[in-house]
Amino acid sequence: MELELLKNNDNWSLHCFICGKEYEEEPVSSRCDCGGILELTLINEFPRIEDFNGVGVWRYSKALPIRDGILPVSIGEGNTPLIPLERMTENTDSQTFVKNEGQNPTGSFKDRGMTVAVTRARDIGAKTLVCASTGNTSASTAAYAARGGMRAVVLIPDGKIAKGKLVQAVVHGAKVIRVAGDFDGTLELMMAQAATRRDLYVVNSINPFRIEGQKTGAYEIFEQLGRRVPDYVVLPVGNAGNISAYWKGFSELKEWGIADTTPKMIGVQAEGAAPLATAFLEGRETVARWDKPETVASAIMIGNPISWSKALRAVRDSQGQFLVVSDQEILNAQESLASNEGIFVEPASAAPIAALRRLEKFIKGNSSVVFIATGNGLKDQSAVQFDSDKLPLVSNPGELARCL
Ligand code: F0G
Repeated sequence: MELELLKNNDNWSLHCFICGKEYEEEPVSSRCDCGGILELTLINEFPRIEDFNGVGVWRYSKALPIRDGILPVSIGEGNTPLIPLERMTENTDSQTFVKNEGQNPTGSFKDRGMTVAVTRARDIGAKTLVCASTGNTSASTAAYAARGGMRAVVLIPDGKIAKGKLVQAVVHGAKVIRVAGDFDGTLELMMAQAATRRDLYVVNSINPFRIEGQKTGAYEIFEQLGRRVPDYVVLPVGNAGNISAYWKGFSELKEWGIADTTPKMIGVQAEGAAPLATAFLEGRETVARWDKPETVASAIMIGNPISWSKALRAVRDSQGQFLVVSDQEILNAQESLASNEGIFVEPASAAPIAALRRLEKFIKGNSSVVFIATGNGLKDQSAVQFDSDKLPLVSNPGELARCL
């Protein structure tokens, strides 16, 4: 596979986020020689708000690093609702919203990034997409590979991802490889292999085209709030790509003169998998790996987040915060959001809601707060514990009448 230069090379710079080295094309496995992760930056011809046109992720094509005239690999991603919370916020003066990313085509925010990365992959002639995943990335990779006419190979930590996500990867025709061990080991195994092979195109969030797609969530929120930036954006953090993407999106709006401010970014991690929150709260410059991450929120059961450098900078530069929540708080928040607001999210996506009470302590009254609900609850049904044999069973009108 020969990579072509970005045709919009004059508009875009592809460089290492750590050492600044410039690249004209993606290096193998999307990683800089120094080990750092890459970033794409629009360097001239900034879009204006009037340039946003159409619906969903590709509404923002003027802000995306895809060559003109290329057909997107798309199945209707983005354009997700921003839903005001009505019944869960009686203790706060703030306006609170849920951005329901579970309404994307494969049920998670990953589709925003995948449509851009897979469009890029097809444009440069990639034939095989690879990823390591806690579930949602593999589902999304599989669907977009199918749509783009490419092969998908997904590596998953054996026994550690939700069944519904595995079903998605299988039904979309991906080659699914189980890896003995946890997600961090699975990602290392995949990255080591990809570093030696030009024929594998990595679509994990280390791929900077993924981040470009995911940043469109920030643009959408800005438009949905009537061209206003929220005061706080709260989201679950695992491998740390998404918080970096949202920060990039909001920062660009300000840099391009479209918005006046940026929000404070609040990252939420589960108590049993909190390497970034720990580093932040201890004021450290680097993140120490957690060897045995453990949480009911399997999507964010990650001990060695690959985008840690971007995420730490996002939270610090935005004057934000990292918060830690327990598994019980996550499950309570999941139940509460479902039964009070009608929004069913997976456990990882309930982590920000679990942080609501803690947040109320330090956010200023009358603020606007957006919680990113990253994934649909239907993917991980085992997280909801109940005994179906204990549900009432009736066989005639009299029994039904007594039950009502
Ligand atoms: N929420 C959900 C539902 C996720 O699936 C993930 C990550 C995150 C939050 C965290 O996002 O990694 O960008 O900080 N899932 C990845 C996967 C790791 O493989 O599906 P992040």
